[in-house]
Amino acid sequence: MELFDKIAETTAFISGRIAHQPKVGVILGSGLGSLAEIMEKEVFIPYHSIPHFPVSTVEGHAGALIFGKLSGVDTVLMAGRFHYYEGYDMAELTFPVRVMKALGVETLMVSNAAGGMNTSFKIGDLMIITDHINLFPEHPLRGRNDERLGTRFPDMSEPYDKHLVAAAKNIAAEMGIDVKSGVYIGLQGPTFETPAEYRWLHVIGGDAVGMSTVPEVIVARHGGMRVFAVSVITDLGISDEPIKITHEEVLEAAGEAAPKMAALVQGLIKML
Ligand code: HPA
Repeated sequence: MELFDKIAETTAFISGRIAHQPKVGVILGSGLGSLAEIMEKEVFIPYHSIPHFPVSTVEGHAGALIFGKLSGVDTVLMAGRFHYYEGYDMAELTFPVRVMKALGVETLMVSNAAGGMNTSFKIGDLMIITDHINLFPEHPLRGRNDERLGTRFPDMSEPYDKHLVAAAKNIAAEMGIDVKSGVYIGLQGPTFETPAEYRWLHVIGGDAVGMSTVPEVIVARHGGMRVFAVSVITDLGISDEPIKITHEEVLEAAGEAAPKMAALVQGLIKML
């Protein structure tokens, strides 16, 4: 079946279960579930029940679409995302973004846990993503282009909406949340980086590095959605002594910063 037809089937399945069309889509990163707690939840659809949806395999990822209201705005949350390192191909892992677009989502908000390379960052900082570098080995738009989904050669001069970036900085200042901003580098994982790799990623222009986000953002831009994204810095790659990192520490640091991230995203949605 063609991607376009799969999207249509999945969208029809979901539309039959929700009362309100979502305007905003949110992808929750590892350990960043607290936004789901503050949402006025209406409908919960586990991934395994949705036709054509992949099923997530990583600890700390619930695996459901949650529909409801955030700041009074109809929103769909992806609680649990799909990563390239799990073995999905790019079309599979970005399929939910296609479906969000088809459901009526205009603005996509993406969160992730990331390692910091910028030496002014500390663990627990929020970094608003202003740009990215794509180091994934496969591109989500590789292959025949379906013009119904987007143009063959999408412009990427402003992947992250600059009005949303500016608004988020203002909201953070009003809320007394210290935010950083910078460039996110996306690569496949699942190994964390070697000390030399963190240094190299910093030299080529990265402030933070992670294993997600870039494929979803590319597909969202292909589909013409506005994008806002934020990283929680869960570990620091550049230091005098190499620092060991575990997934558990990443989840713990993300969990501690999650309420701040949720407040920022909620504040931003209120303003849309
Ligand atoms: N590198 C890659 N991905 C990550 C990191 C990291 O240091 N921290 C959280 N996700």
